[in-house]
Amino acid sequence: MENEVGLVWEPSAVGEALSPEAVSALLCWYASNARDLPWRHTRDPYRVWVSEIMLQQTRVEAVKPYYARFLEAFPTVFDLAAAPEDQLLKLWEGLGYYSRARNLQKAAQVIVRDYGGEMPADETLLRSLSGIGDYTAGAIASIAFGLPVPAVDGNVLRVLSRVTGSRDDIADPAVKSRFREALRPVIPADAGSFAQALIEIGACVCVPNGDPKCALCPLAPRCVANRENLTGILPVKSAKKPRRIDNLTVLILRDGPRTAVRKRPPSGLLAGLYEYPNVSGHLTPDEVPAAVRSMGFEPLCSTRIEDAGHVFTHIEWRMIAYLVQIAPTPCGYHPRSGCWLASGDDLRAGYALPSAFSAYFKYQ
Ligand code: ADE
Repeated sequence: MENEVGLVWEPSAVGEALSPEAVSALLCWYASNARDLPWRHTRDPYRVWVSEIMLQQTRVEAVKPYYARFLEAFPTVFDLAAAPEDQLLKLWEGLGYYSRARNLQKAAQVIVRDYGGEMPADETLLRSLSGIGDYTAGAIASIAFGLPVPAVDGNVLRVLSRVTGSRDDIADPAVKSRFREALRPVIPADAGSFAQALIEIGACVCVPNGDPKCALCPLAPRCVANRENLTGILPVKSAKKPRRIDNLTVLILRDGPRTAVRKRPPSGLLAGLYEYPNVSGHLTPDEVPAAVRSMGFEPLCSTRIEDAGHVFTHIEWRMIAYLVQIAPTPCGYHPRSGCWLASGDDLRAGYALPSAFSAYFKYQ
């Protein structure tokens, strides 16, 4: 197969780099070097699934406390399927990529309805569930069920790209799919340890930033990048397109001890989470009173507070903000604006506010 720079990559390159001896060396290395992680004490498919979803785009250390709290609140797939949305999102608060939590619950409801609460031990059926893509289906199938299914995420792609010396662009889904298929015939009987061993090499040895620790790597003897000094240029990964920039004005509306928050729409960015009322664009101080009145509140005085920014996958928010004292409102819920007025304690206990707004939590 020809790639962009005219070099030839054959699927057999994976079989050559991951020969039976190399796979044995990898498994042996994993048996004595695996990190002791909470989700490695179980093969319960539900727990493996929750861990894999949380670990997408998220560091292991950040996941640990969320994993423990989530399973305490929802010990079974039935508990997750029946959970109120606000409780689910509150447990995910701060972890980011909230569609993961919503998809997890959607899939849990299908597992309860169609599979009697048992996760299907089948790659294709797993793949059909909300939020489960090729990687996650492979991770659950191999780790929980021991099935010979590849689990190729970005870290594993980096390892495969280096051991085979491939110059193919790993951002190209076709390249990922080629690596996945090339890996199938190489998977040993202990498919779960093999999947986790490749993940572990990617996370701890064949690292993305800085020099890989080839001296510690069980795959080094057959690794093309190591042999030919290519670790600095592999993997090849094309740049993503630039993010859209959205300017926002955040209004921290305070009625004595209470702060106004509203629920975001049920789909799209940060769906179903709470936010401080905000408007598109950067308002000047003169424009603030009219914006507050248009929400049905009476502004008393306003102060510009600090700016903040937040980077999402495809969008970047650049926020300016005003702290606005408003005339007292009689009830907790304010229908005209769709806002709830709640104390700081109530907000912390019951409303999932994404960390995009964390610069403003101190004002509530
Ligand atoms: N990243 C994705 N899956 C993982 C796992 N099972 N252990 C550690 N890091 C991971």
